[in-house]
Amino acid sequence: MKYPSITELVLRDGQQSLIATRMRLSDMTPILSKLDNIGFSSLEMWGGATYDCCLRFLNEDPWERLKVIKSHVKKTQLQMLLRGKNLVGYKKYDDTVIDLFIKKSSENGIDIFRIFDALNDINNIVYSIECANKYNANSQGTISYTTSPIHNEKYWLKLAKDIEEAGAKSLGIKDMAGLLKPKSAYELIKKLKKNLSIPIHLHTHATTGLSDATNFKAYEAGVDNIDTSISSFSNLYAHTATESLISMIYDDNDNPFDMNELAEVSDYFQNIRNKYSQYEGSMKGVDIKMLINQVPGGMLSILEKQLLDLNKSDKLDDLVKEIPRIRKDVGYIPLVTPTSQIIGAQALLNILDNERYKNLNKEFIDLVKGDYGKIPGDVDKALLKIVDAKSHDQTIESKTVDQARLHFKDFCKEYNLENLYKSDTDLLNYILFTKESKDFYTKSSVVSMNDLIELQEGFGLYMSD
Ligand code: CO
Repeated sequence: MKYPSITELVLRDGQQSLIATRMRLSDMTPILSKLDNIGFSSLEMWGGATYDCCLRFLNEDPWERLKVIKSHVKKTQLQMLLRGKNLVGYKKYDDTVIDLFIKKSSENGIDIFRIFDALNDINNIVYSIECANKYNANSQGTISYTTSPIHNEKYWLKLAKDIEEAGAKSLGIKDMAGLLKPKSAYELIKKLKKNLSIPIHLHTHATTGLSDATNFKAYEAGVDNIDTSISSFSNLYAHTATESLISMIYDDNDNPFDMNELAEVSDYFQNIRNKYSQYEGSMKGVDIKMLINQVPGGMLSILEKQLLDLNKSDKLDDLVKEIPRIRKDVGYIPLVTPTSQIIGAQALLNILDNERYKNLNKEFIDLVKGDYGKIPGDVDKALLKIVDAKSHDQTIESKTVDQARLHFKDFCKEYNLENLYKSDTDLLNYILFTKESKDFYTKSSVVSMNDLIELQEGFGLYMSD
């Protein structure tokens, strides 16, 4: 049987899922050359949450992180997660911004762009695929996996075909909440292997306790690449342990991986993890609620805390039941950034108001109106009526690179940061996280009170990709 190659996730999703994306570059650099020598097909090390947290919490330039990691990792490909038209942010960006972002990311070291859209709207990922191809990177068009009456094998097969036809060099199956069951994975991957010619990568989470079996069945079905995280950063909200998967698929005498080297990497990260214990989630073992109510663990823990702050902890059960109800009303969208935040906030409003859709948040209106992309199923007719009746500000047109550059120039001038103005990566920070990067470029290293409050909120846990 053909063996899948392995992507190591500890630098991005592993630490994002377990310590709220707080790992600093200085805790990564000492182990990078060892990681580079293990034999992984790629190291995932960048994405929306890592980019955001660098600027918001860690006082780090995300581009510096990319450059430093690239300088240590010579043999293994670097991989990032990209939210389609939203890039690493939360709103749609102009095509000129998408082009510049992918160009600079590729120049600075990203080899594989895993490109997804929360609604699985192909129109939201096509341009990013084209840009990645244009800059000779691996464009990985991605399925955001979910389960619902409309998300059947036929649906996934059509989406996968569309992704291949859009020019993607590989296909990613992104199961952010651990919903993909072993038998379904086997059937789906068998079908995809039969109908597609591009390699298939599987990314699943351990949240529901299915990931080890799902990954093994995917291997049996001939999947080309599996994502895992080193054992000291595995399981719970994260992924199957790298060493476990290797032990499952290889016999001792044909194992190309050095298990002792892997043990050293794991020991190193165990020490690092201890430093960030304040960001650990509360989950123990396995969270089965996701399979019943479709509520991702990370989303649940934040909603739990919000209810506690409002002194409404008794409403938790209602809230958990409200989420799948809203999801049905909005055509069974997958719950992943930014849809998980939007649905979570609306569910909270409905529960606090004791009435469904009495108050609507703006993002929820935009979502129902299709501003985030095409909704996979049918929107409930009564809800559509309510949304249509609400007045709606014109969506602000996203700026082109040239328009944003003018604003950036004024900012640089105002703070005597003329050198900054010449740098496209600094411009991108400014476009993507304007407030955070203004703070980043102008503040001293003193942490503000606001930062401390946000740190305590465990913001990163909420990000479900
Ligand atoms: Co993930």
